[in-house]
Amino acid sequence: MKNYKLALKATIRANSNLALIKYWGNKDPYWNIPTNDSISVSLDALKSTTKLEFGDDYKDDFILNDKLLTGEGKDRIDFVLAKFREFSRFDTPIHAESENNFPTAAGIASSASGFGALAHALYEASGLAYTNDDVSRLARLGSGSAARTIHPGYAHWFAGENHETSYAKQIKPPDDLKIIVAITEKSAKPVSSFEAMELSKTQSPFFVEKAIQSKDNIEPMLTALKENDFSTLGQIAQKEANNLHAVINTTGLGIPYWNARTLELMQFVNALRENENIEAYYTIDAGPQVKILCKPESVKPIVNRLQNLEVAQDIILSGVGNGSQVM
Ligand code: DP6
Repeated sequence: MKNYKLALKATIRANSNLALIKYWGNKDPYWNIPTNDSISVSLDALKSTTKLEFGDDYKDDFILNDKLLTGEGKDRIDFVLAKFREFSRFDTPIHAESENNFPTAAGIASSASGFGALAHALYEASGLAYTNDDVSRLARLGSGSAARTIHPGYAHWFAGENHETSYAKQIKPPDDLKIIVAITEKSAKPVSSFEAMELSKTQSPFFVEKAIQSKDNIEPMLTALKENDFSTLGQIAQKEANNLHAVINTTGLGIPYWNARTLELMQFVNALRENENIEAYYTIDAGPQVKILCKPESVKPIVNRLQNLEVAQDIILSGVGNGSQVM
C-alpha cells in the first residue's frame, strides 16, 4: 500500500480591514467578546502572508518580517495556538513565517491581517475540516478586528455572548469604494487598543453611549451597503470614528492617538465636502492615521490636494479587498 504523507503546511494571504462601525471594548476580555457588533471593509492594499508548517521538531517559532517574534506579540500568538490545540486536539508544534506587504514602521496595525492569516493557516495546514466561522472565532482570540478578515468585501462581526456565538459573516462582496490612508506618524502607538479599551470601560463617561449608538448604527449601515448609498455609509463611518475618539479622549490617557496632523486632516476632509463639492469622509482607529473614504473619481483630486498640503508622511491607496486566501 502506498504510504501517503500529509503535507502539514499552508500559506495564507489575508487583508487588513477597516471598521465602519467600530468595535471598542469587550464584555468578556479573556475571549474578546465585544460590547457591540461591528462592520468592516477589507483593504486590498494591506496584506499579511503567513507560511505555517507543523512538525515534531519545531518549537512554535514565529518569524515576523524576518525577525523572531518575542514579548507580548508572541504571548498573543501562543494564546491562539493553545486555544487551537484545545479545540482541535491537534498539538504538533509549528514553525511560521509572516510578512506584511506594507512597512512595519508605517504605523498601521497589522494585527487584523496577521491573526486572520495565522488562524486560517492553522486550520488549513492541519488538514482538519473547518468553516469560515471557525477561522473567524480563532482569529478573534488574537485580535478582535481579525475576526472580520476572512471575508471578502464587507463583514459583520456579531458580538454574540460567548466563543461559539461571536464571529463574523460576509455582508457584501467587494465594490468600488476607495480608501486613502494618510500616514501622519510612523512610530508605534503609545498604548495598545486592548489596554485603551479596558481603560475606556471604567474611565470614559461616554463608553456606554458609544456602544448604544454603534448598535443603532448597524441597521442603517447594512441598508446603506445594500443600496450602494455612499453618503449614508460615509456619514455613519465618520460619526462612529468621532464617537470612538470621544471615548478614548475622555479616559485618563489624555489624547493618546491623535497628533496635530490628524486634526488637520480631519478638517481637510470636512472642507472637501463643504467647500469643494468632493464627497469624502474620514475614519480613524486607535492611532494617528486618517483613512479617507471616497468614490473612484475623487481619488485623484483628493491625492493632489493631500500632496500640496504636505501633512501626510505617506499615502497608501486602497480598494476593497478579498478575504483570506490559501496560496
Ligand atoms: C479601533 O482588537 O484590532 O480598530 O489588536 O490591539 O489592534 P489590536 O486591537 P483590535 O481593535 C481594533 C479597534 C479599532 C476598531 C475596529 O477595528 O473595529
